[in-house]
Amino acid sequence: MPKRLRPHVNPLSITKEYSFAGFDNNNPIIVDVGACKGEFTAELLEKFPNKNFVLFEIRVPLAEKLRKKFENNGNVVVFDGDGGRNFAAILRPSVEKGINLETVYVNFPDPWFKEKHKKRRFITPKFLAESAKWITGDTEFVFQTDQKFLFEETLETVENSIFSNIEFFKEPPFGIRTDWEQAKIKEEDEIFRMKFKK
Ligand SMILES: C[S@@+](CC[C@H](N)C(=O)[O-])C[C@H]1O[C@@H](n2cnc3c(N)ncnc32)[C@H](O)[C@@H]1O
Repeated sequence: MPKRLRPHVNPLSITKEYSFAGFDNNNPIIVDVGACKGEFTAELLEKFPNKNFVLFEIRVPLAEKLRKKFENNGNVVVFDGDGGRNFAAILRPSVEKGINLETVYVNFPDPWFKEKHKKRRFITPKFLAESAKWITGDTEFVFQTDQKFLFEETLETVENSIFSNIEFFKEPPFGIRTDWEQAKIKEEDEIFRMKFKK
């Protein structure tokens, strides 16, 4: 296979599990699920240097590059493995200490369009039901995609969950277009964006 063609990784086949004691401060936490090259985080970090950042990236070589990129930022941690499997183990302890899990960005996630692959998505009914047990009303999920069917199906999943405080928006958060948005999406393509809370 040519090197540039990267196959999708089935998150359910990656069973690595992590724990995380938390940051050594009580500042709000921002999560980037599927951080890829980390440019989105880098720009957020510039705007919010005192916030804490948790990055999930399933592809180990990309995660290693992210660690290198942020090695001088003590407020950024990178986890490889499946973000869905590790989400609660890594973030719940901080939330239970009263730390604000401010925003969870799910930017242009892999669509997993086949019916039998839908459970590989990050936002599933199971994920939302599990997260509802410990996420507070302060946490905002931000979901962005250029895949209309994925947006509609995810919206339906969210509407049928306890996270029904939904808002649609047009412009990228803080004007920051992610790597994917910049590299893969043509100007005329529509991008679908929503945020939701409990
Ligand atoms: C389409 S790219 C979008 C990258 C980035 N969010 C952006 O908007 O530029 C999806 C990224 O999510 C990663 N990814 C896919 N499934 C994941 C999972 N379950 N956990 C963590 N990362 C995942 C992929 O390796 C890839 O880097």
